[in-house]
Amino acid sequence: MLNQVYRDEDVNLDALKGKTVAVLGYGIQGGPQALCLRDSGIDVIIGAGPRDRFPDWDKALEDGFDVYSIDEATSKADVVHVLLADPAQPTVYREFIHKNLKPNSTISFAHGFNVLYGAIQPPPDVNVVLFVPNGPGHLVREKFLEGSGIYGAVAVDQDVTGNAMDIVLAIAKGVGSTRVGVVEVEFDSETEGDNFEEQVLYGGTIALMRAVFEVMVDHGYPPYFAYAKAIRSLRSVVDVMDEVGIEEYISKRSSRTCEFAVRLSGPRVIDRQEIEKIWNETVQGDFAARWMTEWQLGMFHLHRQRRTWQKSEMEVVGHEWRKLFGEG
Ligand SMILES: NC(=O)c1ccc[n+]([C@@H]2O[C@H](COP(=O)([O-])OP(=O)(O)OC[C@H]3O[C@@H](n4cnc5c(N)ncnc54)[C@H](OP(=O)(O)O)[C@@H]3O)[C@@H](O)[C@H]2O)c1
Repeated sequence: MLNQVYRDEDVNLDALKGKTVAVLGYGIQGGPQALCLRDSGIDVIIGAGPRDRFPDWDKALEDGFDVYSIDEATSKADVVHVLLADPAQPTVYREFIHKNLKPNSTISFAHGFNVLYGAIQPPPDVNVVLFVPNGPGHLVREKFLEGSGIYGAVAVDQDVTGNAMDIVLAIAKGVGSTRVGVVEVEFDSETEGDNFEEQVLYGGTIALMRAVFEVMVDHGYPPYFAYAKAIRSLRSVVDVMDEVGIEEYISKRSSRTCEFAVRLSGPRVIDRQEIEKIWNETVQGDFAARWMTEWQLGMFHLHRQRRTWQKSEMEVVGHEWRKLFGEG
């Protein structure tokens, strides 16, 4: 069954009229969303971590916002839009947000992670909502300025004022997402869907691109040639499938040789059982627990992997390749 889709004409900004929205964090999502909300006529202030540790503060000041500490911004706000890095949120919430939330105010997230797994437990007298644009922050801003937006999702986990959905839809509209369409989801499905997609789709695609490059180079193919095969060709194909659908692309827009190749060997590359296993780990909370442990330990696996992969042949070749053919 299709979810209800909300568009500009279904939503108005009145739910935020006369209200102050505190955007906490001025990073990948915080900066672009705050700028769009302000351009939509909403009263936005920024809450940032200590100025000597977080560049957020100065970046937001440069963009003309009033900037406060996180506790002060929270206490001034009617809507607290939490756009801090997910694993940092529980500590910041416990120390600076919880006690400063006003009764009947709204706390809003862009990922359901901390609420779903109970690392953040808002008081019973505030609305708890979620708005997530389905794309990175710089695109949110770019599309907004073009007069469009990024498709998004909204959810309500706690409604104490009776209009929590109107409030979160107004946020979505202020950021430009209802220009394209916003669907209603739940905190559980948004979180699990996102964590599953990032592991399987992003993780799997990157592993596949690396495998394609490595196998071709191992068999003596020129690295520049293998690099283009592994990355650039995928980019153009994904754009076409997004525009016209997978079947239209395979059967009408690709060559017949390509269609045969796709249908013959594609499914052999995929391990469906492993994907199911990752799904189960995700919904049982194993992924969330591992991620929080990794963060608390200082992300040592991630730092180690970054060092290894930055030095890999594919990265080195990619660096040169982009200089030679980056625009082509
Ligand atoms: N990135 C995306 O494309 C995307 C898409 C959809 C939804 N989301 C969601 O949007 C939310 C924000 O994500 P993001 O990618 O924008 O995060 P981010 O840029 O990694 O972090 C946001 C800001 O939080 C600051 N911060 C980190 N730890 C802090 C602390 N202890 N105290 C105060 N500030 C702290 C960061 O500063 P430093 O950078 O200096 O650490 C950064 O400026 C998350 O819930 C995420 O799941 C993100």
